[in-house]
Amino acid sequence: MTDVHVSLPPALRRALDLLADPPADPDVSKGYLDLLGAGSGEDAVPKNTGPIQAAWASPIGSMLYDNAQALSRRLISAWALPLEWLDIPQGGVALDVGSGPGNVTASLARAAGPEGLALGVDISEPILARAVRN
Ligand SMILES: C[S@@+](CC[C@H](N)C(=O)[O-])C[C@H]1O[C@@H](n2cnc3c(N)ncnc32)[C@H](O)[C@@H]1O
Repeated sequence: MTDVHVSLPPALRRALDLLADPPADPDVSKGYLDLLGAGSGEDAVPKNTGPIQAAWASPIGSMLYDNAQALSRRLISAWALPLEWLDIPQGGVALDVGSGPGNVTASLARAAGPEGLALGVDISEPILARAVRN
């Protein structure tokens, strides 16, 4: 762990420790650990350009999804947060791939408790921005 990492919030430090190839100078300027890269460089994550991903990748699409999922989870039991059947242990580590606006990630974190860790991973910058706000 470098001195740069010591200045990060504990959850981000733990996330960096789990990476096989952590960045030497982690970019957390947007409120999350930005591993997406600058967009076109050699290290940039390839973009998912499919039509469905276009919705998550746009600010309007991510805003509509965020509001729709929040309402749906209140009204439709099949969309309820999956905490009971996941049975996250106290102190456990959960990885939420395609975490979107972060509601599921946050509930995983609550289930894992103060010693646990829930990591959300997403490829869409607008939806990551919503996750930070949420
Ligand atoms: C249907 S949303 C689900 C969001 C969240 N899991 C929920 O239940 O509310 C799908 C999410 O997967 C993300 N996604 C799609 N391809 C991805 C990839 N290759 N890596 C990480 N996230 C991805 C999208 O950006 C989008 O936020």
